Amino acid sequence: MAKCRICQTEYQPFIDFGPMPISNNFLSEKDFPREYFFSMKAGFCHSCSMVQLLEQPAADVMFHDNYTFFSGTSRLMAEHFKKFADDIKQNYLSDKASPFVVEIGSNDGIMLQNFAEAPYRHLGVEPSANVARVAQEKGLNSIVRFFNLDTAKEIVTAHGHADAFLAANCMCHIPTLHDIIEGIAHLMAPGGVVAFEDPYLGEVIRNTSFDQLYDEHVFLFSLHSISAAFAQHGFELIDAKPLETHGGSMRYYLSQKGKRPVSPRVKQLLQEEVNLGLLLPETYDKFRLGCEQIRDDLKYLLIKLKRDGKRVVGYAATSKSTTLLNYAGIGPDLIDFISDTTPLKQGKFSPGMHIPVLAAETLQGNYPEYLLLFAYNHQKEIFAKEAQFAKDGGKWIMFVPNVHVVE
Ligand code: SAH
Ligand code: TMP
Ligand code: ZN
Repeated sequence: MAKCRICQTEYQPFIDFGPMPISNNFLSEKDFPREYFFSMKAGFCHSCSMVQLLEQPAADVMFHDNYTFFSGTSRLMAEHFKKFADDIKQNYLSDKASPFVVEIGSNDGIMLQNFAEAPYRHLGVEPSANVARVAQEKGLNSIVRFFNLDTAKEIVTAHGHADAFLAANCMCHIPTLHDIIEGIAHLMAPGGVVAFEDPYLGEVIRNTSFDQLYDEHVFLFSLHSISAAFAQHGFELIDAKPLETHGGSMRYYLSQKGKRPVSPRVKQLLQEEVNLGLLLPETYDKFRLGCEQIRDDLKYLLIKLKRDGKRVVGYAATSKSTTLLNYAGIGPDLIDFISDTTPLKQGKFSPGMHIPVLAAETLQGNYPEYLLLFAYNHQKEIFAKEAQFAKDGGKWIMFVPNVHVVE
């Protein structure tokens, strides 16, 4: 039994992924004996409908001066955040003289850079010092701090109230969601907009993309669970927008209750969640069976390819791949190496399964027969970039929504 972080109701886990390492902890051989593992189980609270990990490693084990996720690695994500910023400017800030925008989890500044010019004032709150430094070097205002009620108080004292609070792929990382929302409530100017996006529970269920669950992703949000959590602090959902990023995300727009009109889309999307079964415990039992199928099918395929003498290389050492590889028990015996563009990951080994991570250039002129695409959320960009691989007869292996080879 576990207690829901949002409403304190007791619930049972619906899946046990077994011991999991820190998803972004790409490590050297000398650190193997000291590697940190936690027990990764996920559950559904039938009372407030939040899907959550039962246990999460401490925040400073995950976010620190050696954090390996740099947002700027994808060109398409940079375009995506430009559009996010334009949406906020046009639809929520156009009537303000000098709007103040706060972003948490601002990382290397991929979104904030769109608010760098007047009339906007901006502030990033980012606890991982190395990525925050990249933003600071671009001339962006970014403080190295975890966002919470105390940080919100400091911000208000130093800069005043915020007209927009933004976050992307960050809110679902923070187990103390109530403390964050209290911080937001303290921070916002009357009628200010709160807009954040995270991987969407509905898409995870539709695609059996269980790899969205890893140490950092303590929650998988839905409109139902977000409404319930924010309602406790006087906020209401005013709009929501399904997104294609990260394999299927949702952007939530909230404001103090009664301050802004509520889009009819909110009701529609809430109904879609009901139709999809997101409020029913059975849905999560069915989901578990789907996870087991993917786990077993992929392992079987890789063993067969190995037996047939084929080479398989992993493409992009994503955080998500840590869940897949550890859950399925796929190691360097089945995958030669993982190719990745992030310098900090190269020359290291993948968390838990210890598959070598090598520079993307290693692949050029040295394609294997198969590439297993971990970064399926960047499929379009990657297939275009690696067009030569398929032309030379190489085949992509996909595992979402099921295990298949792209012929
Ligand atoms: N927004 C970026 C980065 C997402 S990664 C993008 O979408 O690409 C999540 C980021 O949240 C990390 O950089 C991590 O350091 C940061 N983070 C984690 N906990 C936080 C907290 N309590 N307050 C602010 N940022 C946090
Ligand atoms: P994520 O955004 O799904 O977490 O994955 C990001 C990782 O994927 C990061 O380590 C960089 C890597 N990557 C590549 O290696 N090649 C690529 O073309 C892209 C887009 C990402
Ligand atoms: Zn609950």
